[in-house]
Amino acid sequence: MARVSRIVGASVLAGVWTAGTTTGQSCPDYSTYSMMAHEPLSNGSYHLGYMRPDPQCRTFNLTDVESTITSMASSISDPDLYRLFVNAFPNTLDTAIRWKGVAADNADEELTFVITGDIDAMWLRDSANQMQSYRSLLKASSDSNSLASLYRGVINLQARYLLESPYCNSFQPPVESGIEPATNGAATDDTVTPPYDSSKVFECKYELDSLAAFLEVSADYYTATGDAAFFGKFNWISALQNVLQTATSMMTPTYGNNGTVLTSPYTFTRLTTRSTETLANNGLGSPVAANTGLIRSAFRPSDDSTLLQLFIPANMMFSHYLEQTAKIVDKLGSSAPKGLGSQMHGLAASLRTAILKHGIVTDPNAGIIGAPVYAYEVDGFGSSIIMDDANIPSLLSAPFFGFTSISDPIYKNTRAAILSDTPRPGLNQYNSNPYFMHGPVINGVGGPHQGPGYAWPMASIVRILTSDDDDEIVSELQTLVSSTAGLGLIHESVNTFDQTKWTRQWFSWANGLFGQMILDLKERKPALLKRGYQP
Ligand SMILES: *[C@@H]1O[C@H](CO)[C@@H](O)[C@H](O)[C@H]1NC(C)=O
Ligand SMILES: *[C@@H]1O[C@H](CO)[C@@H](O)[C@H](O)[C@H]1NC(C)=O
Ligand SMILES: *[C@@H]1O[C@H](CO)[C@@H](O)[C@H](O)[C@H]1NC(C)=O
Repeated sequence: MARVSRIVGASVLAGVWTAGTTTGQSCPDYSTYSMMAHEPLSNGSYHLGYMRPDPQCRTFNLTDVESTITSMASSISDPDLYRLFVNAFPNTLDTAIRWKGVAADNADEELTFVITGDIDAMWLRDSANQMQSYRSLLKASSDSNSLASLYRGVINLQARYLLESPYCNSFQPPVESGIEPATNGAATDDTVTPPYDSSKVFECKYELDSLAAFLEVSADYYTATGDAAFFGKFNWISALQNVLQTATSMMTPTYGNNGTVLTSPYTFTRLTTRSTETLANNGLGSPVAANTGLIRSAFRPSDDSTLLQLFIPANMMFSHYLEQTAKIVDKLGSSAPKGLGSQMHGLAASLRTAILKHGIVTDPNAGIIGAPVYAYEVDGFGSSIIMDDANIPSLLSAPFFGFTSISDPIYKNTRAAILSDTPRPGLNQYNSNPYFMHGPVINGVGGPHQGPGYAWPMASIVRILTSDDDDEIVSELQTLVSSTAGLGLIHESVNTFDQTKWTRQWFSWANGLFGQMILDLKERKPALLKRGYQP
């Protein structure tokens, strides 16, 4: 079962029930639990359910998270907005820490198996971001019940995964957990080079941003704790070398100098009726030119295939986090392999140069002379895709993950193109992003993963995280609080005309990101949390 096509037409508004006590009873399956609004409902017009599992059913407890939830009651005035925060922020801790333990061969090596939500598998991208939602609370600690320990466990397990199958994106429970590997019905038809072991890998889509996610979670841990020594202890350095080796191998172009078709380090085909679930050209993907300095990505962060493989947002993200992670290697000094740090600084810089050289194109809709924008994908031969997709890394999120700033003029043009609701003089205002969705429920960026008509709340959250405009932020908050179909959780996508049609009732990353955004607003724009969001 791949993470696709889960359009759920749930008539949740009618299905309110009270959980009652589950003491002595087994805990409900959160996939089912999250499809109904539970009492007490929030004291606002949207009557949002209370969606946290009972305390004894939560998968990890952190006092700092509980005290943040309590203290935010006085920072958020609107009862529905506060309820959404209460439900969403702790979602990964409440529901997705499927197992935490230590490695069989080393009792000091912590391991954390974090599921994406509704599938019992750990995505590199999701788990890095699920952890990031708590980054503002992270501090150094050796306690095994701490957030720092949770982070170390994620980093160690990701390192193990990347040493096993660096081209893959989603993984099975570690053997130490005793949890049965999940069945991926879609993957049974996969023909992939290099091959993978399905008892260890849930899905093997090569995505550059999955490699970047390992750098992200590592940099986040180091920046908050200053604990460089941890990175020298287990398999982090070898995993990092594997990441670099994998990424640079994927700079291989399609053709050699004399026209021969070069062997691609990675190929993927699947028997499917969805074109985004397989690669063109018998698993090679669309041709890529030589010497661009960019790294290919076979799939996007939506797990959909790229149309053109030089996927700019992941190159941006990889460049940024390489630079951040190189600081750890610098700090390790002589205990890190010689030249590793300078290789990372060098690649980070050359990727940035390559993005500026090949990743900026002219948006033909932006006035008579056109405007330079970041392309979503290019091939180095001259073709480009102008669009954005909701999943991070997206173009919209480039300042959020640190590649650029919101005052970058190219980013500003790009943002105007992506957010096709931004009127620009002389234009058909709906022209530039084919995946911008409109409707009475929500206006926002969607993507081919759930298709036209479905906007992704994640993109509305990113829009807030990358905006300094109070009106824009208020409008997006209003959209988010009013489009959960009364469930009080952040869904993957929402039908722009009917909010009872949404996808993924249990998507922990998007919930955590909502919490992260609210905490960011508390720092940047506290007054906006003090206003009402009632209709
Ligand atoms: C919320 O509850 C208080 C009393 O507890 C009440 O005064 C207020 O009107 C309620 N607000 C809404 C929006 O229902
Ligand atoms: C979290 O705390 C509750 C009590 O408030 C307890 O019942 C539960 O077992 C704890 N969960 C974990 C994973 O420790
Ligand atoms: C073409 O180049 C490849 C390597 O780039 C080489 O292996 C092959 O022998 C060359 N073929 C011819 C006919 O020159």
